[in-house]
Amino acid sequence: MIDLIEKTRDGVALSSKEIAALVDGIVAETIPDYQVAAWLMAVYLNGLTEAEVFALTTAMAESGSLTMETLGLVDKHSTGGVGDKTSLILAPLMAALGVPMLKMSGRGLGHTGGTLDKLESLPGFRVNLDSADVTRQMRAVGVAIVAQSPTLAPADARLYALRDVTGTVDSVPLIAASIMSKKLAAKAPNIVLDVKVGSGAFMSDENRAVHLAELMVRIGKMHQVRVKAILTNMDQPLGYAIGNAIEVNEAMATLKGTGPRDLTEETLILAAHMLAMARHIGLTEATHRAEQALTSGAAWQKFKEWTTAQGAEPTYFSQDLPLAPQHQSWILDHALTVTRIDAKQLGMAALALGAGRVVKGQPVDHRVGIRCFAKVGETLAPGATVAEVYARTPESAANALRMIQGAIHEDKDISTAPAGIIRIVE
Ligand code: URA
Repeated sequence: MIDLIEKTRDGVALSSKEIAALVDGIVAETIPDYQVAAWLMAVYLNGLTEAEVFALTTAMAESGSLTMETLGLVDKHSTGGVGDKTSLILAPLMAALGVPMLKMSGRGLGHTGGTLDKLESLPGFRVNLDSADVTRQMRAVGVAIVAQSPTLAPADARLYALRDVTGTVDSVPLIAASIMSKKLAAKAPNIVLDVKVGSGAFMSDENRAVHLAELMVRIGKMHQVRVKAILTNMDQPLGYAIGNAIEVNEAMATLKGTGPRDLTEETLILAAHMLAMARHIGLTEATHRAEQALTSGAAWQKFKEWTTAQGAEPTYFSQDLPLAPQHQSWILDHALTVTRIDAKQLGMAALALGAGRVVKGQPVDHRVGIRCFAKVGETLAPGATVAEVYARTPESAANALRMIQGAIHEDKDISTAPAGIIRIVE
């Protein structure tokens, strides 16, 4: 392992055999955390060749002793954002449209939230299903979102947990291998990637995001999988809610037709692309069908069926999940025109409340969170609430509010709302 760390540190490419041995050692835990972390930092600083990324992705996808049969027709993954809860809506929406979706998700990463942490806010929800359970649930309900298991693609779980706490998250090769290994292991033939660009994304500049998108599309092509990458704006949170339970509440509201407009619109765009790919239909027809599945309540019914099948207590469908007890708000005493939002800082405020981890394996607090009502280009009147915080203690709530106040800017330049979709890479 020392050899491999030194090679990557010195910019010498590893062979596929060396990468396979590295991934074996990561899964078998014969390589200690500090050496894995040192190698991750070497990758972060020097990058990997494309051949190394392909070898790493394949070895990670094939890590573990199980391979999945194809159970889903479509899959989706986001590169990570703030308030990005679209998977919670898209999975049941696809299943309601008759398109089975099996998704392997991740936990919170850096300042961004993770779908598994959010789903675990539903009391009883189980993210660790064995392959027999996954098969049964996919046949019965047509949707499942799961974690990696010790026998199915476990390598990323360990790498991911270490990247989260070692400053090695925003690396193009590591993100590409992390995402595509999970997508290849889940075996869907059609994949839509939501590549986030902006102040709340790991890629703040469009060129790097395009590079990441193209790399992931090429990895898919190598494995005969159709991949479409949609670059979407992350210069402000998606919807209002940031956290775990608070985001599930907002996703449930969106499924019931009362969610925030930007979240509903972006989810429908992603849904239309997923449906068009899976069913070989035009985008206009796909958009129409996706809107119908949402507005008719079919997707909400499917959400209840799915989450119950995966262990959630049904009592939470008729009421919001409870939030942390200390509630503080930022209420305006003058008008505020929002020209810029530092979305990463909002993610950091949620992290500081306890919604994410600062050391490996730390439990998250599902009940803490933020609602931020500021949107770029909009003016809030005196008396309006800009943001509210749910915290464990008054001090923690006040600290998060201060961080939020530092993230919302009223510059001299007039800004308009950023466009949702920036570009598509196929
Ligand atoms: N999502 C993942 O699964 N991995 C990353 O590295 C980033 C986002």
